[in-house]
Amino acid sequence: MPAIVVEGGRPLRGTVGVLGAKNAVLKEMAATLLAPGRHIISNVPAILDVELMGRVLGHMGAHTKLDGHELSVVIPDSLDPEAPIELVRAMRASIIVLGPLLARCGEARVALPGGDDLGARPIDFHLGGLEQMGAHFELVHGVLVGKCEGKLRGTEVELPFPSVGATENMLLAGTLADGETVIINAAREPEIEDLASMLCSMGAHIEGAGSAIIRITGVENLEPVRHGVIPDRLEAGTYAIAGAITGGDITVTSCVPSHLRMELLKLEETGCEVERGEGWMRIQGPERPKAVDFATLPFPGFHTDMHPQMVALLSVADGTSVITENLYDARFRYVGELLRMGADITTEWQHAVIRGVERLSGAPVLAHDIRAGAALVLAGLRADGVTVVGDAHHIDRGYEGFASKLAALGGAVEHRAE
Ligand code: UD1
Repeated sequence: MPAIVVEGGRPLRGTVGVLGAKNAVLKEMAATLLAPGRHIISNVPAILDVELMGRVLGHMGAHTKLDGHELSVVIPDSLDPEAPIELVRAMRASIIVLGPLLARCGEARVALPGGDDLGARPIDFHLGGLEQMGAHFELVHGVLVGKCEGKLRGTEVELPFPSVGATENMLLAGTLADGETVIINAAREPEIEDLASMLCSMGAHIEGAGSAIIRITGVENLEPVRHGVIPDRLEAGTYAIAGAITGGDITVTSCVPSHLRMELLKLEETGCEVERGEGWMRIQGPERPKAVDFATLPFPGFHTDMHPQMVALLSVADGTSVITENLYDARFRYVGELLRMGADITTEWQHAVIRGVERLSGAPVLAHDIRAGAALVLAGLRADGVTVVGDAHHIDRGYEGFASKLAALGGAVEHRAE
């Protein structure tokens, strides 16, 4: 398994650019299933998850090729509407193919994803919404077999919680449904707006993406598209915290600071100087951060995928921070690894109390998931001595060239393919 090796103690300085948003591009790859022909998606990061989604589409008969940061996806006239367990296990986000497959083929056979490192992760909202649109599901030996007679029907779907994935599945399914689909209590994440803008370029009729009510009027056919992915706010936010935790001075370019409003406000509360401009932001870290409290919430709240990186920062703060994780019950698993580095954190149910320590000490630790892995590398940048973050393939799922970008900013960081 690969590892990222970090020698701490150097302030990071300089400029770093971010690529397209992983959480947008994966759904946009699934969206190509809706229209036969060649699609081109640009600003695509060369990360493991893009490769995995390519395999999911490949299993259905599509051809994908990443050339630099331009991804071409060729969708055939007829698809094999199946995502087997080995692919769904490798990437849970594969569940997003349900909506497009039902809309395009009237059928989908998708292995039921189990839980993952973040917890149980049910998909009841996805299934409930698609059932309201006329699909039927049966669980056959671990495989969800979904069918609909004729076309999906547009209807009003009220989500019990603004789930990103369920909103996207409804959105994708609604584009080719009969009549109007209205999603109430929709998630408002920027990635959903980006997906909707790609679908509109394909010929879909969508209003309200980015707000809590989305209206989709089904059309007969969609066309292949050329689309550029929005910048990855999680990659941008992670580099911002690299500047913050090392007391450095980092300018992040090709990003959208307004997608990180709450996260940047919280960074300012820790004592960071933050400047924002069109497509860039500059973060100057304090010598020692101040403690702050925060709770994760759907957009525009504090992103759960920025939580571990922020906790890494608060672990060296002056004072005690209390944080509440509202999205994933098992998200705190990485805390045990931070404790190995000398952090003082206790967790109880969905809360963590972080008593800031003056120093962290480098240690061998393990990345349990993408963001936890990134957080441990950030902690390593601040720690005395050497931190070896094992199972770094998790980090490679979400960040292209994480180690080399940090090294270019002056960090002693190296990716080892062990
Ligand atoms: C997406 C992101 C993930 C991010 C999350 C929240 C991708 C590939 N992943 O995940 O990185 O952390 O949004 O911003 O885009 N829930 C249910 N039933 C459902 C669906 C969700 O109970 O059918 C719950 C989940 O357990 C969780 C909450 O709703 O507590 C939010 O989940 P959701 O927004 O759906 O996250 P994902 O789309 O899976």
